[in-house]
Amino acid sequence: MSASFATASASVFDWLPLSGHSFCLLVVPGLLILIILWLCDHQYDRVLGRPPPGPWGLPWLGYLLFLSRRAPHKSLQALARRYGGIYQLRMGSVKAVILSDVTLVREFFRHEVMAARAPLYLTHGIMGGYGIICAAGPIWKHQRRELIDWLKALGMTRRPGETRSRLEQRIGRGVDECVQLYETDADVSPSSEFDPVPALQHTLGNIINDLVFGVTYERQDPDWLYLQRLQEEGVKLIGVSGVVNFLPWLRSLPWNRRNICFLMEGKSRTHAIYDRIVESCENKLKELQEQYQEKQRQRQQQQDLQQYQQQNPQQDPEPESGSEQSLQQSPEQKEEKPVAAAAAAQEHFLINRVPFSELYCDEQLRHLLADLFGAGVDTSLATLRWFLLYMAREQSSQRRLHELLLPLSATPTLEELQPLAFLRACISEVQRIRSVVPLGIPHGAERDFTVGKYRIAAGSMIVSLQWAIHMDPAVWPEPEQFRPDRFLNAEGHYSAPPQFIPFQTGKRMCPGDELARMMLTLFAGRILRRFHVEMVPGCDADMEGECGITLAPAPYKLRFTKLPPMELQVEEQPLVQA
Ligand code: HEM
Repeated sequence: MSASFATASASVFDWLPLSGHSFCLLVVPGLLILIILWLCDHQYDRVLGRPPPGPWGLPWLGYLLFLSRRAPHKSLQALARRYGGIYQLRMGSVKAVILSDVTLVREFFRHEVMAARAPLYLTHGIMGGYGIICAAGPIWKHQRRELIDWLKALGMTRRPGETRSRLEQRIGRGVDECVQLYETDADVSPSSEFDPVPALQHTLGNIINDLVFGVTYERQDPDWLYLQRLQEEGVKLIGVSGVVNFLPWLRSLPWNRRNICFLMEGKSRTHAIYDRIVESCENKLKELQEQYQEKQRQRQQQQDLQQYQQQNPQQDPEPESGSEQSLQQSPEQKEEKPVAAAAAAQEHFLINRVPFSELYCDEQLRHLLADLFGAGVDTSLATLRWFLLYMAREQSSQRRLHELLLPLSATPTLEELQPLAFLRACISEVQRIRSVVPLGIPHGAERDFTVGKYRIAAGSMIVSLQWAIHMDPAVWPEPEQFRPDRFLNAEGHYSAPPQFIPFQTGKRMCPGDELARMMLTLFAGRILRRFHVEMVPGCDADMEGECGITLAPAPYKLRFTKLPPMELQVEEQPLVQA
């Protein structure tokens, strides 16, 4: 064996322009260096973690070309099956870490260093990092705190009480208008078949308009028609995985340029509309401020007079008209604030505004209002669109719901609807089977960070792949089947597994979750209390959806049949055929 090795090395040295001695001098230290580097790297990985596994990509483009434009969530889900609950790929120049293991999502998103936003053109280029959804750092922290305070003051709390019922009434007004519009649509449409989205978009949008701006629009108002069209088109135009987010040179291609212009123009027109609303709100607040100051002045005068009378008891002048009234103030009057409690988001943010602070500059306020409108409407609307579609397809679930809803009052309240575990289960199953934010809203790693055995590079985009989490067959057997019972325990009570995260989790979890639940419950409960919905005979709806920032169903029509309240209760046969 040694003889053959000697022959072999001799033949190698014959080929190399080196003697055996100089070979040893060069190669052995080289090998040693390689071994030391390998050991260092190994230790480095053990201490600092290693990058997550993942597929190779093309130069410059990374993996972008291999992601489906129509359903990026499904391409990423397929990779999750191959690489597991965490993997990394490149999208253009951005490293993307994709999480589909809910334990890892919770672990990542509880750290503040993961609470930034990914460097996308959408968040940084178009929105400029303003508002709340696209913001990071001190602006985001501050706005989020303020937003949570405002939502609480508005009644967004789980505890029953006066403010919560006021909020419920405001939502209820919009829901009832939607039911009335459906009644009219059912009367005038051939075979009572119509697209339920326009009325839903108008009334749901107006609920958020009322809460955020303190205004509601008539259905045909030109500003409102424009804002609705922009909202509908805007969410489709730039998806989280859209190439323009990652490849700057693609933005100059004609069709991309057209889309970007549409969004930029939309942004400035929307801001001009908001400026008018903010201006009228500022005037109203100024008026309130002046009224308050006037009252304060009168009060001061009265106090001075009272003091004077106490010091000069022999003189007893007639009290001035109105003074008695102002001296005997009710405790509420005494505690009167400079302006009435904020009813709309803009009032709240205007009142708390620190002039000239970048936290509250005009640009920030406009983006914040747009974010509140967008976040509140896009997601809730997409969920309700899926809800109606699934109810029309899943007649046995709808029949079970009718059995629960029909004994309730004609316009059931949250107190009546919330105990219905099956209603909640149906809404949750819709949120699971069609995650309306299938890629979440990507986070960004503020700096290098190690989680478990993985090292995440600063600037990476962190995607919580809700779609894969909600469609994992290990947690949800036969995930494409609509089965609300997944959310009921053996006693029939509502119970959601920890893998159900429609509002995400951690530091940036959706702050409007409870408001969303209230709206979804009232819309779902009151619409089905009044109507039986079914597919138009012979029409098959596309259940894949259109994926932009949100995943919403393609346009569809349903047949709405009114359920007269009394008849419903005496009907013995099942109302709806399975
Ligand atoms: C069905 C309805 C809704 C769903 C499924 C939903 C879901 C989500 C998700 C997944 C996020 C991203 C969280 C993250 O970045 O980790 C989010 C953020 C957000 N949502 Fe919602 N949401 C809904 C309704 C609402 C409503 C009604 C509001 C109204 C106030 C709202 C306000 C926001 C805001 C302001 C953010 C950004 C939070 C931040 O960046 O810190 N959402 N939502």
